Amino acid sequence: MSISRSLVLTLAGNRVVTSFVSKYGMKLGASRFVAGESLEEAVRFVSGINKEGLIVTLDHLGESVYTKEEATLATDESVRIFEAIEKSGVNSNVSVKLTQLGLDIDPEFCFENMDRIAAKAKECNNFVRIDMEDTPRLEVTIDIFNRLLAKYGKEHIGLVIQSYLYRAVDDVAKLGENQVNLRIVKGAYKEPAAVAFPEKSEVDDNYVRLVQNHLLSGCYTAIATHDETIIHILKKWIKENHIDDNLYEFQMLYGVRNGLQRDLVKEGYKVRVYTPYGKDWYPYFTRRIAERPANALFILKNFFKN
Ligand code: FDA
Repeated sequence: MSISRSLVLTLAGNRVVTSFVSKYGMKLGASRFVAGESLEEAVRFVSGINKEGLIVTLDHLGESVYTKEEATLATDESVRIFEAIEKSGVNSNVSVKLTQLGLDIDPEFCFENMDRIAAKAKECNNFVRIDMEDTPRLEVTIDIFNRLLAKYGKEHIGLVIQSYLYRAVDDVAKLGENQVNLRIVKGAYKEPAAVAFPEKSEVDDNYVRLVQNHLLSGCYTAIATHDETIIHILKKWIKENHIDDNLYEFQMLYGVRNGLQRDLVKEGYKVRVYTPYGKDWYPYFTRRIAERPANALFILKNFFKN
């Protein structure tokens, strides 16, 4: 992790910064990374982008929830997303974060909430993916995922693995034994060198290795990155190794590398856009700034222009 990225994540936790950005955030540019504050707005966006050949995973923003009432409301909302997808006929699945469903309150309560969402995914013949958060939550996230995988099957539930973690290669191998559908990402949290590669080049090399390993195990793989070099390497490798096109998709974040998303669609690749919506956008927004501190300058310029 570069110093500037670490600095942005530290500043984002500062109380003064939090209250300023929360107040002016949408004007500051959070809307560049967030599709709207309501489910209705988000579904309208999906409908439009589907017409361009892109598919979506919808994420109701929110994490680190501290009351059971909030976690229950967040669970209801994810269930409601599946109903809205079914009703509107748009092409989208759903992504969720376990801390939004009460992981930090009581893991068993969180399991029950996640169980309700996975049941709905199956009922709607759709799919839910559990995002991966920071390492203190990793083991319990994998446990909850494995229990639900046994109940609902890999067609209806998937997980995320982060290539910045040393342990990721073992996790991918183990999850591959059950033919799990994995999204591979580089990782967006502030992690110590004791658990994560400090050098970007090591994170990138590991990224390519994890995608290749998972595909060679015959498992569905979501290649979630905006890194053009990695995308180029993997496209070439996939062709050379005759990997079935039904075994993978590319994924990118709403508002990031829009041109590249559409170029891949034109080349015939399946591309899914991770599309967050909702009022609780602050932590998500700050991670997007941290990934590319130049975004902060762009956003500040817009603020003073408006
Ligand atoms: P990298 O950071 O090297 O960026 C490559 C290039 O992409 C940059 O040079 C720039 O051009 C562009 N870019 C990247 N981020 C940008 C940004 N914010 N703004 C503008 N340009 C940007 N993480 C996690 O820990 N748990 C999770 O569950 C998920 N889920 C997830 C889903 C999907 C669909 C994606 C694409 C990503 C995630 N992530 C995630 C985030 C991921 O871990 C990572 O932080 C970002 O994808 C940025 O890394 P890249 O792979 O894009 O490479």
